Amino acid sequence: MALYAIGDLHLSFAADKSMDVWGGNWVGHEQKVRDTFPGMIGSDDTLVLVGDHSWGRNLKECEADLQFIMDLPGRKILTRGNHDLFWDSRHTSKLNKLYKGKLEFLQGRYAVYGTTALVATKGYADEGNDPPERVFQLKDRELMRLQDGIRKAKTAGYGDIIVFLHYPPTDPGQETSLFTDCLEKEGIHRVIYAHCHGEEHFHDSLMGNVRGIEYDLVSGDYRNWVPLRVL
Ligand SMILES: [Fe+2]
Ligand SMILES: [Fe+2]
Repeated sequence: MALYAIGDLHLSFAADKSMDVWGGNWVGHEQKVRDTFPGMIGSDDTLVLVGDHSWGRNLKECEADLQFIMDLPGRKILTRGNHDLFWDSRHTSKLNKLYKGKLEFLQGRYAVYGTTALVATKGYADEGNDPPERVFQLKDRELMRLQDGIRKAKTAGYGDIIVFLHYPPTDPGQETSLFTDCLEKEGIHRVIYAHCHGEEHFHDSLMGNVRGIEYDLVSGDYRNWVPLRVL
């Protein structure tokens, strides 16, 4: 039994928005996933997909992309990315009902992997795309979701907690954030994030051990389409 993570598949089987235009290891990335994952991930293993699954603008446009993910081996847990327009944060339970037994959609709460709780929320990093008051709102809401997920896991008795954020834990180039303050205060030791794709963004945020927390970037192109073994 093993736990793997990767993010930013950015599938577009119905949305006609191929990532091939980015060149490099984005070219044919879907086939790389199809070829590589079954050799690594077994039916007893768990794969956390850390957001930005699909370019589809609604569930209908995402069906083929979600089917692609369903066809990957193991248990699949999806967390929410900024481009996942099909996933209304208020209706996560609907998605879980619809894909019961096939995919798990995780946000602001925890999933159980062995004796470890997996807590996930989207997070937020200010990349200059939102006005200041909106930045404040988005950070505040995501911080609450993070705190809520950790609190639920701790209340249920989980001491081992891994946090999955879609966005990096800090704004680009920063060392600290409201999120890192919270993670440190809560005694979290492992954080996995995605979103930073394209070489110029690989080092936007924290990596390795920073103030007692191990940070890993798992954007697919950064990982060259090889999932990170987390546990
Ligand atoms: Fe992305
Ligand atoms: Fe993203």
